[in-house]
Amino acid sequence: MKRREFLYLSTAGAVLLFSGCGEALTKSSKPQPLKNNALPIPPLLEGVEKNGVIHYDLTINKAKHSFFNGTLTNTYALNNQSYLGPTLKLEVGKEVSINFTNNLDEATTMHGHGMHVPAIMDGGVHQIIQPKQKWSARYTVKQYASTNWYHPHIMGKTAEHVYMGLAGLIIVEDSNSKSLNIPKDYGVDDIPLVLQDRKFTNAQLDYSPSRREIMQGYIGDTPLTNGAIEPFVEVENKEIRFRILNGSNASVYNLGFENGKSFKQIATDNAFLESPVTLTNLRLSPGERAEIIVDFSNDFGKSILFKDFNSNKKFLEVKVTKTATNITSTPNQLVTLTHLDPNNAQNTRRFTLDMSGRMGSMRLTINGKSMDKNRIDEHIPLNQVEIWEIENKMMINHNFHIHATHFEIIERNDKAPAPNERGYKDTVFLAGGDKVKLIVKMTDYQDAQNPYMYHCHFLEHEDNGMMGQFVVV
Ligand code: C2O
Ligand code: CU
Ligand code: CU
Repeated sequence: MKRREFLYLSTAGAVLLFSGCGEALTKSSKPQPLKNNALPIPPLLEGVEKNGVIHYDLTINKAKHSFFNGTLTNTYALNNQSYLGPTLKLEVGKEVSINFTNNLDEATTMHGHGMHVPAIMDGGVHQIIQPKQKWSARYTVKQYASTNWYHPHIMGKTAEHVYMGLAGLIIVEDSNSKSLNIPKDYGVDDIPLVLQDRKFTNAQLDYSPSRREIMQGYIGDTPLTNGAIEPFVEVENKEIRFRILNGSNASVYNLGFENGKSFKQIATDNAFLESPVTLTNLRLSPGERAEIIVDFSNDFGKSILFKDFNSNKKFLEVKVTKTATNITSTPNQLVTLTHLDPNNAQNTRRFTLDMSGRMGSMRLTINGKSMDKNRIDEHIPLNQVEIWEIENKMMINHNFHIHATHFEIIERNDKAPAPNERGYKDTVFLAGGDKVKLIVKMTDYQDAQNPYMYHCHFLEHEDNGMMGQFVVV
């Protein structure tokens, strides 16, 4: 193996030197992706009502998945899936109990990313599920219609557990989302897309980041869409809605259609946008979601590639082969959001994303500190309107995710955010040197004992210290 050395320059002035081993790439007999590879749709998990509470039972298992012809890959998955887990569809106002049983040989957790829930129901680093144990997230759904997701959140091993296949979607519906004239037929014209990339060695998932890859992100050369390599989907010639999750560990995707076809973004992480925003490219960093509407009514007979322009990964071939039946017409007004007023802000908190330490013991930091699960970093008063200023002090990309609630971006690099960032978000991208100003308010759930987390959602960064904890008091 070749030894390489890399320099990282922090804008704060520190120069750190690392050495890491380059990967020996085995190029011999690359396994072939499955042929005739139709897009798998994660099944909807039906809840079972008991005494007014809707129960969803999920098991976390070791599994084997067909990514390639003639060979199986060891994975982790939920329920009967062999990669990823089923989709939950929850309704606002309903009390739910999401029950996870851990059938792995190791402890994990299961966090509801984007879910507005009490801290002890959050599934963060403290709600550990030991092997053979069960843990339930029980709460009343109280937020806007949106596309959220569940994934492990265990100290130091989140990246690996997600890499092995543990993730699934949580769709929240409300009376507004059900009444809008938009596509709603799950898997037919309302299609979930969990986008990831993976590295395989001998057809097995290979999670072995070097120090350089911990910093720059562990990026796979194989794109996965709902666990399939370069699949296709057949759709009708009409409006199609895609619910897109960047479920990758560290890739920032710049998504769009190869032929430049435009589409409308209708939702950000935690809610519909007030009005659709027309785009040809959509940037999505790890953990972020977007819903888009694509009008294929004039595309009958065409095959259009949906890809990542950053890496040229082909995520989906959309074949417009079917004649439209249930035609929708997405309206110009999707939702009325309540906006927090910066003039009402009572406090400003600053968070800097950086690193510290020296060769061999480098840690990623927020405000100079690496994650310590026994330390509470911030005490946030319930219902207080706050400005959070996040600054990326490094030259590499990061993002910033807050548990417990959504936020709004009020400034990006001292300017108003792009129209498709003017919605409810829980994760915001920060390129090297970027600064964002967020407005945020913690509501409903006060608990001085049990913390929530904020962190970079590049999973290698999160696992290597770029995370902090807050309580709502
Ligand atoms: Cu998607 Cu703290 O996580
Ligand atoms: Cu989260
Ligand atoms: Cu990061």
